[in-house]
Amino acid sequence: MVCEFKPGLDGIPAAQSSISSVDGHSGILEYRGIRIEELAEKSTFLETAYLLIWGELPTSEELAAFESEVRSHRRIKYRISDMMKCFPESGHPMDALQASAAALGLFYSRRDLNNPIYIRDAVVRLIAKIPTMVAAFQLMRNGNDAVRPQDDLDYAANFLYMLNEKEPDALAARIFDICLILHAEHTMNASTFSARVTASTLTDPYAVVASAVGTLGGPLHGGANEEVIQMLEAIGCVENVRPYIEDCLERKAKIMGFGHRVYKVKDPRATILQNMAEKLFDKFSPDKYYDIAQEMERVVEEKLGHKGIYPNVDFYSGLVYLKLGIPTDLFTPIFAIARVAGWLAHWKEQLEENRIYRPTQVYNGKHSILYT
Ligand code: COA
Repeated sequence: MVCEFKPGLDGIPAAQSSISSVDGHSGILEYRGIRIEELAEKSTFLETAYLLIWGELPTSEELAAFESEVRSHRRIKYRISDMMKCFPESGHPMDALQASAAALGLFYSRRDLNNPIYIRDAVVRLIAKIPTMVAAFQLMRNGNDAVRPQDDLDYAANFLYMLNEKEPDALAARIFDICLILHAEHTMNASTFSARVTASTLTDPYAVVASAVGTLGGPLHGGANEEVIQMLEAIGCVENVRPYIEDCLERKAKIMGFGHRVYKVKDPRATILQNMAEKLFDKFSPDKYYDIAQEMERVVEEKLGHKGIYPNVDFYSGLVYLKLGIPTDLFTPIFAIARVAGWLAHWKEQLEENRIYRPTQVYNGKHSILYT
């Protein structure tokens, strides 16, 4: 059978999955059949992670047990933090996270992939420790000691506490938790594919997550929200929006935070993030970049709405993170904190009906030449 080569495997199913689905024309994202809007309103990140990984919402007892297990595994071994202290402070936090996630595999090296206790243990450890490692590197690269997790704080509040060395405001913590829900899973993207390929070799889950973190770190995947902030700073004021967009269109340059391979309407996560940004600005202080962002949305819709170009998840998330006091180069590691839930769900699903990934190729090189 001769197959047509599709660069980027565009349109080619890479797995069968029941974890999430996207309807890009109606702007619908569902995790295990539940709309993202409903989860953002009623769920927490840990409950959503449980739903993604085990396929059903937990009962209140199951959720309490999961939360308690995650809480008790938040600390990282001193040898891991000693290793992290040796990382160069100029290194990117995504590289630090990839190396630390892989290092977990050295400490928890048993590969008992048929044992549900091992699976649960690995899920709990990864979800619990990744935020601690992100916060630890942030403090260490600034010459400070890492802050120990605080047991009486829930998942999102504890991360903000470890990062900023003070207990966060309750609204800020809830909004951060919702950001994690929104980024937890998104069908067959590059890092998820990478996780599934790595999982299919039956390696350990720490290698699966490290491989996915490495893939997420590239500028074509995570990271557009960092560029949105730089763009808003460069535009500077509302009056500059229209000329900026017209200039981009003339140069055929992409406007950051707009457009999506799947969504042809406004990304439902962008709508939720925009509402959350507004809540933060109401409670704390208004943000001039938000006015610029709103004007951008208006002008881009006028110019590119007919092509289905609308705000994507990255357009408002950076504004929310900045207001929460998060430095821009931590935006992608935070994406990873959330997405580890989706990667682990795909790891587990891959193991349930595993076949090692071994695609083919279209050879376009030379063949052996017989010398006479
Ligand atoms: N700004 C201006 N024009 C855009 C655009 C943007 N952000 N995104 C798409 N377009 C235009 C393209 O130029 C193209 O126009 P044409 O048909 O006249 O040539 C058309 O819309 C289709 O775009 P295409 O590049 O085929 O879409 P895609 O599905 O391949 O790309 C993205 C999707 C996300 C890569 C793209 O929209 C993009 O680069 N966006 C900016 C970066 C970003 O925000 N990334 C985060 C994604 S969550």
